Amino acid sequence: MATVIRGGTVVNADVSVKTDVYLDGGKIQAIGVDLDVPAGTKVIDAGGQYIMPGGIDPHTHMQLPFMGTVASEDFYTGTAAGLAGGTTSIIDFVIPSPQQPLMDAYNQWQEWAQKSAADYSFHVAVTWWDDSVYKDMGELVNQHGVNSFKHFMAYKNAIMADDEILVNSFRRCIELGAMPTVHAENGELVFQLQKEMLARGITGPEGHPLSRPPAVEGEATNRAIKIAEVMELPLYVVHVSCKDSLDAITKARNEGQRVYGECLAGHLLIDDSVYRNENFEFAAAHVMSPPFREKKHQAALWQGLQSGNLQTTATDHCCFCADQKAVGKDDFSLIPNGTAGVEDRMAVLWDAGVNSGRLTMNEFVGATSANAAKIFNIYPRKGSISVGADADIVIWDPEGTRTISAKTHHQNIDFNIFEGRTVKGIPSHTFSNGNLVWLNGDLRAERGAGNYIKRPAFTAGFKASRLNSEQHKATAVKRN
Ligand code: URP
Ligand code: ZN
Ligand code: ZN
Repeated sequence: MATVIRGGTVVNADVSVKTDVYLDGGKIQAIGVDLDVPAGTKVIDAGGQYIMPGGIDPHTHMQLPFMGTVASEDFYTGTAAGLAGGTTSIIDFVIPSPQQPLMDAYNQWQEWAQKSAADYSFHVAVTWWDDSVYKDMGELVNQHGVNSFKHFMAYKNAIMADDEILVNSFRRCIELGAMPTVHAENGELVFQLQKEMLARGITGPEGHPLSRPPAVEGEATNRAIKIAEVMELPLYVVHVSCKDSLDAITKARNEGQRVYGECLAGHLLIDDSVYRNENFEFAAAHVMSPPFREKKHQAALWQGLQSGNLQTTATDHCCFCADQKAVGKDDFSLIPNGTAGVEDRMAVLWDAGVNSGRLTMNEFVGATSANAAKIFNIYPRKGSISVGADADIVIWDPEGTRTISAKTHHQNIDFNIFEGRTVKGIPSHTFSNGNLVWLNGDLRAERGAGNYIKRPAFTAGFKASRLNSEQHKATAVKRN
């Protein structure tokens, strides 16, 4: 239905302007002061509020089959919960089992995602290598709008990509104009440290962070960056959780390498003391990888966001309930890894970021939508309030408050890592493709209303830098 939002201030990543916004046909049709609109247009009063692009969560795992179970949140419940929190798009991960054709996995995830209430897109993981993977990567980029491939450097004996897979896949990414992304933890070290902790009798969740110390993440981040440097392509590092990996990213960026970093709302706010809680259920509910870190790493992550060395925020939303986590009661390495947050990311980031003065409102928009849209090539269709953009909009009430709780959240999980936190600054309205899907606590998400968002391949920048390289210009030395 045609709608005009009046009286609010539009906040984009670059500028804030007090103006009206007119939506129709799922798109933003006009922006201007005192807009003339057709008779019958629905009028929304946004006085005293901010009109921002709906959030993009570039890292979720809805109904992921993982560690012997399946994530409890499906594409409908998860995207609906996102809408309640002002997030209007997700980029989820297709994760083929080793030896599973990438196209089979992609088709399976597409089938699952048909019920999405909000727009969605896919990164595809490269978990093994042969000629069919090479071919399917091409089909995914050229016919299905996938422009990013994920590499898990951890999860040995499951979905881990070793250096051979990384190099083969990165080379294919250059050919295709696709962004490689990495979960950066040294999987061999994790595997060995898990065995070591168990042998020492450390079987509870406190063993989880001990088997994945920051150096394990720093090593893998640095290795991925160096591989990307040699191969001359950009790199996106998911869920940067500690200073060790942030330092590697910062150094590379200072040297002119195009490396992007994502951090999670959870890693910004929660520290590793949760794993030492005497209640198994509580501690296990926080088991995710990389783990929550000592407080000093949180401070580093905030600095990373403030300095622009980290560009995006995500949640790695991957829900497992208490009965699923209980599988690891006697062995922490069996606890399904994952925590929730798609509903809470925007509010906790506003509260801890903007209210504290760490981020401006414009930086908040950059970190919650615009930067992800730019990095994954869907800007300004997503991540901006501009004429022609999708009408994915959140009206943000800076005075509204909410106390986060598993009892009241919309996420399909029995635990909330932000339980009891009162946030100031919440969405009063969320529009998804022009439809009002959240109004002051009333969730009107519609099953299947979300669209698949194709993301075009990258062009110029990818190959140009390669042509300039010493390696590329190298010729054999003629000898007698
Ligand atoms: O613990 C996590 N993060 N679970 C989901 C899979 C991943 O590593 O992203
Ligand atoms: Zn991961
Ligand atoms: Zn993940």
